Amino acid sequence: MALDISRPNDLRACWMPFTANRQFKKNPRLLQSAEGMYYTSVDGRRILDSSAGLWCCNAGHRSPRIVKAVQDMVHELDFAPSFQFGHPSMFELANRMMDILPDHMAHVMFTNSGSEAVDTALKIAIAYHRARGEGQRFRLIGRERGYHGVNFGGVSVGGIVNNRKVYGALLAGVDHMRHTHLPEKNAFSRGQPEHGAELADDLERIAMLHGPETIAAVIVEPLAGSTGVLIPPKGYLERLRSICDRHGILLIFDEVITGFGRLGSPFAAAHFDVKPDMITCAKGLTNGVIPMGAAVCTAAIHDAFMQGPEYLIELFHGYTYSGNPVASAAGLAALETYREDGIFENARKMAPVFEDSVHALADHPHVIDIRNEGMVAAIELEPCPGEPTRRASDVMRKAFERGLMLRTTGDIIALSPPLIATQAHLDELFGILSDILKDAD
Ligand SMILES: Cc1ncc(COP(=O)(O)O)c(C=O)c1O
Repeated sequence: MALDISRPNDLRACWMPFTANRQFKKNPRLLQSAEGMYYTSVDGRRILDSSAGLWCCNAGHRSPRIVKAVQDMVHELDFAPSFQFGHPSMFELANRMMDILPDHMAHVMFTNSGSEAVDTALKIAIAYHRARGEGQRFRLIGRERGYHGVNFGGVSVGGIVNNRKVYGALLAGVDHMRHTHLPEKNAFSRGQPEHGAELADDLERIAMLHGPETIAAVIVEPLAGSTGVLIPPKGYLERLRSICDRHGILLIFDEVITGFGRLGSPFAAAHFDVKPDMITCAKGLTNGVIPMGAAVCTAAIHDAFMQGPEYLIELFHGYTYSGNPVASAAGLAALETYREDGIFENARKMAPVFEDSVHALADHPHVIDIRNEGMVAAIELEPCPGEPTRRASDVMRKAFERGLMLRTTGDIIALSPPLIATQAHLDELFGILSDILKDAD
């Protein structure tokens, strides 16, 4: 008989990540199953998913091709090492990714998560310069409010204070540009804000401070997600690109959220028409079904390592589960689903509806900003005096009671529904949200 774990009688042993554990365990939000745009909670209620899980289930939940591909692969090849061995699916997945990545991207190293993709990309950047005889380029530049996962490299270049401040000295040789949030000029912008391209000049200033020849790479989310959705000002990413070009600095786009259709294009690099040297991705790579991430780079970066005797390992880096067969099968099926079911096309079609719906909340109590691009948006609430984050977290809890899963960060509600959303789903989402915001304390 199958073990019934639908209602655990003790929640203490599991220490939940990024969660207010004590509050959660007094009144848990437990999910039992999922289908399409909805979860079902353990008490049998339908919960509309407004965050694609955690920005990852772009094709919705339990997408049939992906479920079948995973089942089939578990039966055929449960695990295969990817150090000095391989299996067909990991190579096929890399090739199929190339079909939708920007043309100048050429090679993929697989990881198990976005955090690992970021640390992989940062390591490749430093090692690449060294392989070309520029070993003095070791500095990494991130940005305030950036989120690049939770490993030491990603936290070091990241700029979310609570994610950094209790973890000691972090990586040496890291500096940060300013974030791009200018609410006094850009509040309630639809799409890319007008003001702030000049903030990219921080990179020039930092380069002049440390010496541009010491900088290996700059990493940014082309659209910052986890900090509460910051859309790049018009011209900002282009300016970063040209400063990087001027100084031989690699530009890494962290597309863990924006990859695989969130903005309506396969990747934000294409959406904003700016070419990074590396892209990190995860989440939508497998539709969130099996953990997997990837660091993607140009041929020039990859080829710099392909020197010396052929029997030697070129890059001393990788994870036991890099390119895991079951994850690769999930990735292949996710890409097929995105293509065959027109998932990115639907995102493009629904983006204007989504934009109008979210901006219709502008006059609701406590709303101080709304911003959006593609199928991602943020509603920023004025914090309760002396109790930052309480207002948004109250909204999140009330929404769950009303059958809506919301993702909040600080006092910001971040919306990123599965890209299969229809008009009816958006009506339901914004109807519930509007009611709750009208009553928010
Ligand atoms: C831009 C970005 N980079 C990295 C990560 C980390 O990914 P993971 O949680 O899979 O390690 C995230 C996760 O939200 C992210 O949004």
